[in-house]
Amino acid sequence: MTSSVFSPFSLPCGAQLSNRLAKAAMEENMSDPGQLPGPAIFRLYQRWAKGGSGLLITGNVMVDGRAMTGPGGIVLEKETELAPFKDWAQAAKKNNTQIWMQINHPGRQVYAAMGGDVLSPSSVPLDLGKHSKLFGQPRAMTHKEINNLIQRFVDTAIKAEQAGFDGIQIHAAHGYLLSQFLSPLTNKRNDEFGGSIENRMRLLLNIIKAIRENVASEFAIAVKMNSADFQRGGFDADDAKQVVVAMNALAVDLVELSGGSYESPAMQGTTADGSTLAREAYFLEFAKDIAHLATMPIMTTGGIRRLATAEQVLAEGVDMVGMGTALAMNPALPNDWQVNSQVVAHSATVRWKDKTLSSVATMAVIKRQLQRMGKGKNPKVNVSPIFSLIRDRIRLKKLTKRYQQYLS
Ligand SMILES: Cc1cc2nc3c(=O)[nH]c(=O)nc-3n(C[C@H](O)[C@H](O)[C@H](O)COP(=O)(O)O)c2cc1C
Repeated sequence: MTSSVFSPFSLPCGAQLSNRLAKAAMEENMSDPGQLPGPAIFRLYQRWAKGGSGLLITGNVMVDGRAMTGPGGIVLEKETELAPFKDWAQAAKKNNTQIWMQINHPGRQVYAAMGGDVLSPSSVPLDLGKHSKLFGQPRAMTHKEINNLIQRFVDTAIKAEQAGFDGIQIHAAHGYLLSQFLSPLTNKRNDEFGGSIENRMRLLLNIIKAIRENVASEFAIAVKMNSADFQRGGFDADDAKQVVVAMNALAVDLVELSGGSYESPAMQGTTADGSTLAREAYFLEFAKDIAHLATMPIMTTGGIRRLATAEQVLAEGVDMVGMGTALAMNPALPNDWQVNSQVVAHSATVRWKDKTLSSVATMAVIKRQLQRMGKGKNPKVNVSPIFSLIRDRIRLKKLTKRYQQYLS
């Protein structure tokens, strides 16, 4: 019997996905000069397209070149040249695959060494203990800056559509700017954008509405959000439910549930508030509860690397299965599962005493696989975490210099 994981799936906008498996957003940090996508990224997406996932979601693309999650990131603004983005969309559509662009603003999660604007709903800096100084001091956004931000999300979505992407995903998870607005720990505002959950979600809802007014009805609009921040006093599961209920009234095609932030990396299975996540499919319990309330399709991402787990996700009433690490370790995992249901993707998790360093090393191991595929090589799953981390730091230093020239 064919697994339901491989059955096609229709979205509210009318798009047909060839199966229920999605490559979740992973920032490639592989831009060409000018913060543009180039041949390495095209090769990587061609590889994923051939690997059999029904949907590919790009790593986060910045709506403002003055605020980046990393120095090798990609920027798409109103005036950005479209040609390389057209090539990117084309490379990713090789196998009847849908390609969505994730769009993001980092807010306060900007490395101090990079420079640029560090904006947030309020001036609350990141607390990462002895690593806190690595990040910039945020400044509370004015109303003018909030309106400007909404326009930037709209401009980037319009350009993504013009370049041939099938949809966009608004990044409202992982402690970035929209997630900062949602969380009472970072949003201390006393205007219409702060306080109650109705106010904290206003910016996200306004962005969704504004994008929908400016793109075709067949263009997919998705949202990635936290099922919780996993920090005491943070955005919690009840808040998440209220946001989903409010989004029911808007034309949203998919809500992807993740969790955590730089302070509490739940998306990697580790929490700051001591709550325990499932060993695999970390957010399945939350996603299951939310799927009951949601009128749009729901996807969960985090810790999935075997077919049996993916099937369990669908059996619990969740519509789509998102995978990041597993598809970095094995870009053809969906195709492999069709042949052998027992194939398990390699885990990249590094467990050192220092949780922040472990998290960064895990990311470095995964990022190395993306770089290898960008060069046309195969992933190498057993690379040394410490060597990968050092290599990553050197690479980031060079890219930071290049980014500073771009900024100036
Ligand atoms: C190298 C790397 C980069 C990532 N970049 C993004 C990103 O740009 N946007 C995003 O929403 N999530 C990003 N994530 C998180 C993944 O989308 C996913 O939520 C997380 O890795 C958990 O899923 P997994 O266990 O299948 O990897 C990234 C993860 C990794 C490992």
